Amino acid sequence: MKIVSVVGARPQFVKLAPIDKAMRAAGVEHVIVHTGQHYDPMLSDVFFDDLGIAAPDVHLGVGSGSHGVQTGSMLSALDGVFDAQQPDWVLVYGDTNSTVAAALSAVKMHLPVAHLEAGLRSFNRRMPEEHNRVLTDHAADLLLAPTKVAVDHLAAEGLAERTVLVGDVMTDVLYEVRDELAGRASSLVSELGVAPGGHYVATIHRAENTDDPARLAEIAGALASLDKPVVLLAHPRVVAKAAAHGIPLTEGSLISHGPLAYPDLIAAVMHSAGVVTDSGGLQKEAFLLRVPCTTVRTETEWVETVDLGWNVLAGTRAEIAAGVTRPRPADTAAAPYGDGRAAQRVVAELAAR
Ligand code: UD1
Repeated sequence: MKIVSVVGARPQFVKLAPIDKAMRAAGVEHVIVHTGQHYDPMLSDVFFDDLGIAAPDVHLGVGSGSHGVQTGSMLSALDGVFDAQQPDWVLVYGDTNSTVAAALSAVKMHLPVAHLEAGLRSFNRRMPEEHNRVLTDHAADLLLAPTKVAVDHLAAEGLAERTVLVGDVMTDVLYEVRDELAGRASSLVSELGVAPGGHYVATIHRAENTDDPARLAEIAGALASLDKPVVLLAHPRVVAKAAAHGIPLTEGSLISHGPLAYPDLIAAVMHSAGVVTDSGGLQKEAFLLRVPCTTVRTETEWVETVDLGWNVLAGTRAEIAAGVTRPRPADTAAAPYGDGRAAQRVVAELAAR
């Protein structure tokens, strides 16, 4: 069996790690195509190196651009790749422009497409990720859902017959890295000179939070006035937008810092007092590590984290402060994101069909 995985952005490399490992264990021929959507070494290469992922077999090098230009460049480059590879399955991941481009190219070439992390919905049609998810789910032949809620969303859209619940592959990689890190200090904690539990970890990168200067200034101001140092692991997009509008990202409690490699990020979160983020993956990672999370969005796809009390949605400065300083949530043994063996199930499902 030959499977082509198409990835391009940071969270997809994290999801690729357990899949690549499971494919190799199962003796599957796994071809990795990197679109080049993310190209900075700290957003791309470091994940392949640290998580032991085989180097990409094909690199399209599309880089940044408007949605249409970026997605279109991927589409035109992928036709030739798929034609040359003739895989049994094209596997696409998550909800980025790389996801929708690969799904569209493959379905038009009559190649079977499987969507990993299918069925997530924010129901916010202004998010580029929401367009990408809905379009990809409806194009794909096999929908690999991470949660029961995702399965229900797909059923509500008439896609039940193509859906299978496999669990969340981000749980697989997180548990593995957490266990490797056990007992080890966080390099970020040492670098900052704070006591364990003496800082917050923040990430902000979504267009709705970065592209309006008033919105970005409100979030930066809220983080700057928190009661402990807040390390903002700044995506290039937030750095560029803050610089363009003269918004300081190091001020008061707020400390701007470059992105971290995956194991360093997990260690920084494990030793923190809490997470403030608009990332989807980090909301889940905080929950799985049982670190309280405050999500700077009006909705989340990962509703289980909110229902279980480990995540709160916050928009305004006051809501962010209240979220971060709320009492520690009640402990729970709930496991809505699976048991850490989702990747094996994905490979078994692909092989069975
Ligand atoms: C993309 C995904 C988003 C995902 C995020 C993870 C889409 C629509 N969005 O958002 O769902 O959560 O990745 O990080 O696919 N840039 C660099 N270096 C890079 C890559 C980007 O400097 O290696 C800068 C460029 O100025 C670029 C901007 O970041 O224009 C945005 O990059 P892009 O890939 O378009 O979207 P992300 O915001 O990273």
